[in-house]
Amino acid sequence: MSAKDPLVVFTPSGRRGRFPRATPLLEAARSLGVDLDTVCGGRGICGRCQVVPSYGEFPKHGIHATPSSLSDWNAVEERYRSKRGLADGRRLGCQAAALADIVVDVPPESQVHRQVVRKSADQRQLNLDVATRLRFVAVDEPDMHKPSSDTERLERALRDQWRIGQVRISHRLLPRLQETLRTGGWQVTCVVQEFAEGEPVRLLDVWPGYREEDLFGLAIDVGSTTIACHLTSLKDGQVRAATGIMNPQIRFGEDLMSRVSYAMMNEGGAEEMTQAVREALDSAVGSACAEAGIERRAIFESVLVGNPVMHHLLLGIDPVELGGAPFALAVGRPVELRAVHLGLSLHPEARAWLLPCVAGHVGADAAAVVLSEAPYRSESTTLVIDVGTNAEIVLGNRDRLLACSSPTGPAFEGAQISAGQRAAPGAIERVRIDPDTLEARFRVIGSKTWSDEPAFPESILATGVTGICGSGIIESVSEMRMAGIISEDGRIDGTLASRSTRIREDGRTHSYLLHAGDPSVLITQNDVRAIQLAKAALYAGARLLMDHLEIEEVDRVVLAGAFGAHISPLHAAVLGMIPDCRLENVVSVGNAAGTGARIALVNRGARREIESVVRSIEKIETAVEPRFQEHFVAAMAIPHKTASYPHLREHIDLPRSRTQPESRSRQRRRRRRA
Ligand code: FES
Repeated sequence: MSAKDPLVVFTPSGRRGRFPRATPLLEAARSLGVDLDTVCGGRGICGRCQVVPSYGEFPKHGIHATPSSLSDWNAVEERYRSKRGLADGRRLGCQAAALADIVVDVPPESQVHRQVVRKSADQRQLNLDVATRLRFVAVDEPDMHKPSSDTERLERALRDQWRIGQVRISHRLLPRLQETLRTGGWQVTCVVQEFAEGEPVRLLDVWPGYREEDLFGLAIDVGSTTIACHLTSLKDGQVRAATGIMNPQIRFGEDLMSRVSYAMMNEGGAEEMTQAVREALDSAVGSACAEAGIERRAIFESVLVGNPVMHHLLLGIDPVELGGAPFALAVGRPVELRAVHLGLSLHPEARAWLLPCVAGHVGADAAAVVLSEAPYRSESTTLVIDVGTNAEIVLGNRDRLLACSSPTGPAFEGAQISAGQRAAPGAIERVRIDPDTLEARFRVIGSKTWSDEPAFPESILATGVTGICGSGIIESVSEMRMAGIISEDGRIDGTLASRSTRIREDGRTHSYLLHAGDPSVLITQNDVRAIQLAKAALYAGARLLMDHLEIEEVDRVVLAGAFGAHISPLHAAVLGMIPDCRLENVVSVGNAAGTGARIALVNRGARREIESVVRSIEKIETAVEPRFQEHFVAAMAIPHKTASYPHLREHIDLPRSRTQPESRSRQRRRRRRA
C-alpha cells in the first residue's frame, strides 16, 4: 500500500488503513476488522452494510473528504433504494468504493456486535455476538468435467465467500438440498451456527435464493416454582415476548428436596417430573410465539438455566444423587444438544445450550447470576446471593471467587409462613410500622397505593389482600424489630398488647395483626422463627465464604431472586440476612438468572466466559464446615448476636429490648435517621 492510496477511517471504531483505489468500503472494513454487517456477502441485496460517509475537513485524521472521495451512486444502490428504501446520506458499504481519503461512520444498526439497549440503567449492557446467522452464497453448478457433489460445492462456496472452514451438514437437510439449490438458481441463503471461531459451523437450514428472515432464540430460566421464557430476536437482541408459568412439578413437591424424595420413593418418578417440566416449557414457548406472532420454526437456539435438580430433571437425569452427600452432579460442564431432545418443538435443527452447574447445590442458575452480575470482572469484593429455597451464594472479585449454597428453606418465598403466599397480585409486598403507634400500612402486588391512603380500597378491588409474599415478610419482621415489637432474639413482646390491639395473644406466644380482613394477615411467633432460621442460614453461608476469603467486610451485596418487590437494602440489613455493608452498595436485581440466560443467548463469547469462570470457582460445602453451625447460631439474633453492623447503625439505631420501659425521647432517637 502506498501513501498515495486512499486512507479510509471508520468511526466509531477509529480503525484506519490505506487501500488500493476503488476498494469497496465493505472490503476495507473486513480487512481492518471493522464491525460491519452483511448477509448477502456484498451483492447489494441485504442492506446490512449501510454506512454514512462524512465530508469536509477532519484535521484529526488529516483528511479533506468530498463526495468525489467515493465512487458514484450506482445502479445496485438505486435498485436497493427503490425496493427497500435507503435514508439520505447513506451508502451501501459493499457498493461504495474509496477513490480518495474518506471518513466513514458505521451506524449501530449496521454493526454485528452492537449493544442492546436495556430498559434499566443499572443493568449490564448486552453486547450482541450471536451464534446463529444468515449467509447468502452463490454455489457453482455441477460440471461433468470436474465431478463433485452439491454438498462439496456448497461447502466450498461457504469457505470462499464467508471463510467458513469446516461445515457440519445435518443428514436431515440432505433430502431437500439438491432441489433447494436448483430452485434458487444456485443461490441459497444458509442458516449457520458458529459457537466459537475456529470450531466447525453447523448448517441448520438452506433456503432457495436470498431470504431475509428474522431468527429467534429463547432464554429460559427453569425455577422450582416458576418458568420464565424470553423469546428474543437474534437480530437486535430485543425480547419480543416474555412468558412466565408455574412449574408443574410443584404437584410432586413444593421444594427441591421433596421432589428428589419423590424420585427416590416412586418408580418412574423422575421421568414423570421430566415429562411435566418439558411439556410446560413447550407450552410456554407456544404462548411466547403466539404473543410475538412468530412461527416456532423461526427459533434456532435456546439457552436454559436452572438449579441442579431442575437442570438434571430437564435433561432426564435422575436427581437422586443430589439429595445426599456428597451431592455429585451427573454433569457440571455446559451441555449442548438438539432442542427436540428436551421436548421443545422449534426449528427441527434448533440447539439447546444449558449453562454449566457450579456444584451439586449451586446450579446453572447461579452461573447465570454470576454472568449477569460479573463479580469476576470487579476489583471490589461482591457478595451475590440468589435467594430461593436453597440460597446460592457467590463471593469474590476478579482474583478469586467462592461459592456455596445454604439451606434457607422456602420461608423467603412465602412458604411456611402462616399467611404466606407466592409473589402474585394481592400479596402484601411492602410494609411500614409506626414505632410510636405500632400501626401498620402496606402495599400489595398489583397496586401502587399504600393501605392508609383513601384510594386503597378501590385500587385492590380486583385482587383483594390475599396474603404476604417474601419481600412482605422480610419487611414485616424488620419493621417489627425497628418498632421494638420484637426483641433482638426474635420474641414478640406481649407487654405491648396494652398499647396496641395489633399485638394479640396467640396461645403461649403473641402475634402481630398486619391486616384485619378475610383472610387476615397475622405475623405469628412461628413466622418470625421461620424467617430467623432462613436468614441465619443465609448469613452463615455468606459469612463462611468471608472466612475463606479472610475478609471482615464486603464491598457490595447483590440480592437476586423472585420476590414480590425488590428487597429493600435497609430491611435486609436490619433483619441481618446479609452481612453489614454500606447500604448504598446493596442492590436488589430481581431475576438475574434470567438476565444471565439472555446474555448467554445473544453473546456466544459470554458462554465461553462463564464456562471458564465456573471452572475457576472454589466450591465450599457448608455441610462439612463446623463454623457454619457457629455462624448460624450467632445469626439467629436480629440482626446478629455479635456483629455490630456499623454501616447499618449510620442509618438507624435499633432498640435493644421492649421489655424495659423507655422514655419517649429515646423512642424518637430510635427512629430512622435517614
Ligand atoms: Fe448486502 Fe451490501 S452486503 S447489501
